[in-house]
Amino acid sequence: MTHTTILAIESSCDDTSVAILKDRKLLSNIVSSQWNHKDLGGVIPELASRKHLEQIDVVMEAALAKANISLEEVSAIAVTAGPGLLGSLLVGVSYAKGLALRQSIPLIQVNHMHAHILAHFIDEPYPAFPFICLTVSGGHTQIVRLESPFEMELIGQTRDDAAGEAFDKIGKMLGLEYPSGAIIDRLAQEGKPRFDFPIADIPNLDFSFSGLKTAVKYFLRAEVKKDADFIQKNKADICASVQDVIVKTLMQKLILAAERENIKEIGIAGGVSANSGLRKALEETAQLRGWKAYIPQISYTTDNAAMIAISAFFKFQNSDFSDLDLKPFTRGF
Ligand code: KG4
Ligand code: ZN
Repeated sequence: MTHTTILAIESSCDDTSVAILKDRKLLSNIVSSQWNHKDLGGVIPELASRKHLEQIDVVMEAALAKANISLEEVSAIAVTAGPGLLGSLLVGVSYAKGLALRQSIPLIQVNHMHAHILAHFIDEPYPAFPFICLTVSGGHTQIVRLESPFEMELIGQTRDDAAGEAFDKIGKMLGLEYPSGAIIDRLAQEGKPRFDFPIADIPNLDFSFSGLKTAVKYFLRAEVKKDADFIQKNKADICASVQDVIVKTLMQKLILAAERENIKEIGIAGGVSANSGLRKALEETAQLRGWKAYIPQISYTTDNAAMIAISAFFKFQNSDFSDLDLKPFTRGF
């Protein structure tokens, strides 16, 4: 029997990751995160691409060693082609081309946003089609309808900031480290959502989070004028209130999408799908509405190459290969 072994590379933002998947079984998924961005308050593109260059060799060797696979056994090289930071993507794409050329094996390009969704097909139980997925990350907020791993329709998205971006920008106002989503999540669990922030009134399945950001900014400014220690004294409650309104906004649109499309197979994906409030809200809503909910394990929520590998596995089965003149792209679904 011939095996299908995929070596997948993810370098679209600030995580360098390589995964090995053999016959749909994940053998390794090594992620090296660039913690140096923490002190800088955000990802610095130039720095991110340089770090990818430094780390990619080590990460690949670690992934092969953990999987106990040699390069000679690999059937195809998969790589994130976009969307993401151009410099970061270029490192992964060039590296992948080099490997494919050297080994004389196919190159498979993967769309990062598609891959976040297809992470649900790494471990059983797999969603049944049609399937609706809410993808919430630092750069995107999308509702997608899937008929198969290849047929995806974008049915809703943010008009401005992404949900993760809202967490990160509000975190900055509260003096929290970047990225702030997980910190707000942790603090929220110690607080009560007693401050009222607005849910944007946007038609259809679209989102907007920039109004929330502005509302929190003016609220904090007014309160700090009255009491300079307001943020310090009320941090947990502010976090709980911010998380509450973001989760409510996301769930409102997800419910609307499920009703409109008459679909009960519902999932969440992307960095913000690690949020405990969102995970709990999805579980509760699923029980109430008879949905089958798909909540990814935490290691598949943030950027990882396992999701690139499973996406490429489906493409490999269709012989959907890319040319060696593949160019990375910064935007697009
Ligand atoms: O998918 P991802 O790793 O990278 C992008 O492709 O953007 O998502 C990163 C985003 C960041 O905005 C981060 O603050 C957010 O995910 N995030 C969270 C949590 N963990 C990560 N947001 C809310 N709650 C969390 N527990
Ligand atoms: Zn991502």
